[in-house]
Amino acid sequence: MNELNLELLKPEENPIEKIDISKKFALFYEYWRPKIVAELNGQEVKLVKFKGEFVWHCHTIEDELFLVWRGSFRVEFRDHVVELKQGEMLVVDRGIEHRTVADEEVEVLIFEPRATRNTGNIADKHFTAPIGTKI
Ligand code: NI
Repeated sequence: MNELNLELLKPEENPIEKIDISKKFALFYEYWRPKIVAELNGQEVKLVKFKGEFVWHCHTIEDELFLVWRGSFRVEFRDHVVELKQGEMLVVDRGIEHRTVADEEVEVLIFEPRATRNTGNIADKHFTAPIGTKI
C-alpha cells in the first residue's frame, strides 16, 4: 500500500460524520430551492421545502426520487396523481412529465444525479433553482 492512500484514510482529515436532517431543514425557509446535504456515486441527496404548484416538466436523462420527510404532497402526471405522505417515497422515471403540488408546506428529500436541474427541460424565472447549493 502506498503512502498516499494511507494519508487519505486519516480520520482527522476526512471524518465521516452523520447528518441531522431535521437540523438541516431548520437552516432554510425558501421554497423550491433544493439544498445538497450529501453526495455519493455521482448522485446528490437534497432537501427542499415547498408549498403550492410547481411547473410541469420532465428530466430527459435523470430518474428522480422523492421521499416525504414532513407533511404531504402529490406528484401529478398527465394521466394520474400520486399522493405522498410522511415516510412515503416515489421514483419518477426519466422522460415522464410531472409536477409537484403541496396544499401545505412540505419537507422533501430528493435523490438524483449531480447537477440535475429542478425544472428539468424547462427554464422558469421563478422556479428554476441554482445548481450545486449546499447546506
Ligand atoms: Ni422533476
